[in-house]
Amino acid sequence: TQTYNLAVVAGDGIGPEVTEQALRVLDQVAAQHDLAFARTEYDLGARRWHATGETLPQSVLDEIRGQDAILLGAVGDPSVPSGVLERGLLLKLRFELDHYVNLRPSKLYPGVPTPLAQSVVDKGDIDFVVVREGTEGPYVGNGGAIRVGTPQEVATEVSLNTAFGVERVVRDAFARAQARPRRKLTLVHKNNVLVHAGHLWSRTVDAVAAEFPEVAVDYLHVDAATIFLATDPARFDVIVTDNLFGDILTDLAAAITGGIGLAASGNVNPDRTAPSMFEPVHGSAPDIAGQSKADPTAAILSSALLLDHLGHPEAAAQISTAVEADIAARAGAASAPRSTQEVGEAIGTLVAGGVSVG
Ligand code: NAD
Ligand code: IPM
Ligand code: MN
Repeated sequence: TQTYNLAVVAGDGIGPEVTEQALRVLDQVAAQHDLAFARTEYDLGARRWHATGETLPQSVLDEIRGQDAILLGAVGDPSVPSGVLERGLLLKLRFELDHYVNLRPSKLYPGVPTPLAQSVVDKGDIDFVVVREGTEGPYVGNGGAIRVGTPQEVATEVSLNTAFGVERVVRDAFARAQARPRRKLTLVHKNNVLVHAGHLWSRTVDAVAAEFPEVAVDYLHVDAATIFLATDPARFDVIVTDNLFGDILTDLAAAITGGIGLAASGNVNPDRTAPSMFEPVHGSAPDIAGQSKADPTAAILSSALLLDHLGHPEAAAQISTAVEADIAARAGAASAPRSTQEVGEAIGTLVAGGVSVG
């Protein structure tokens, strides 16, 4: 048995609810593949902040750094000022552990309800991945405000883009495009307005493209990209984009492929100098927290991304195949909505039943 040390940060709101189901499925699949996860659960989030004022103490960060991977639920709570946990915990983990590739796949499974018109769905397979830069952009906290609360207030939030940071994520996106059947990469930016950062991104894509002659390269301004996500998402294969554009586009991507309850993500450190972190795209959903209404599928699919990252693609595929089967069953049955536990159990049963990997 190969044992991995897994840090679990269940977090706030629906985070613990969906994480419990992801761990259930992960353990079931692991057992079938002679793998095991030795978990350490970290009490981080709103409760700890209220109790101690801490978001991510250095000692905890150091401990997490020594683990093999991280599974995160969600952070953020209405009782905590907006940004405290998001910046102090989630972004701190992404930055400190150098998660420069924020990987967000989107696939429209057969039978999944989508707000897209049938004519849009008929255009082709909707199966793309957003490679969102994870350590730079407007997220770095490079800003400030003066004369706060007065009519003369001035606030800035400066986007940081380095040649090093842009090049490494662009190269990763090209490598992913090269490995996919359609071999297409779309840079999304706003280089008609954000000319300094935009031209850095465009020049970098042009330069790295020379190393990947088989990858077809395309460019869209981010506003136009939202049009095509709604009218022709089949045109996308790999999208590479900055931290903020990627955040926004991936909620839209989730919405067109079955909803935010299905969207998984990996915060990947491709150089493996620190553990990568896997989490649903969604947040802590305070509006449904504690009601067992959250769909755990995104968290479960995030654990598949985790297995894939650790080098177990067959185990990962077993989860995605089970999820696909569960989604097909949902589409077929006009039944009452299922609880978080019921969805987790259903997917767990499909995994245990050894759905054929195909
Ligand atoms: P959200 O994703 O939490 O919720 C948006 C909507 O989607 C809500 O109506 C919610 O009920 C619904 N939803 C989300 N996940 C769902 C699921 N699994 N099943 C069914 N419905 C689901 O986004 P928000 O409301 O903008 O943010 C709430 C809090 O979460 C904020 O504090 C925010 O900062 C934080 N947040 C954290 C993360 C993260 O930890 N990665 C991501 C996004 C937002
Ligand atoms: C996400 C979230 C985070 C982000 C927030 C909570 C910091 O929206 O993971 O998509 O913007 O990256
Ligand atoms: Mn987001």
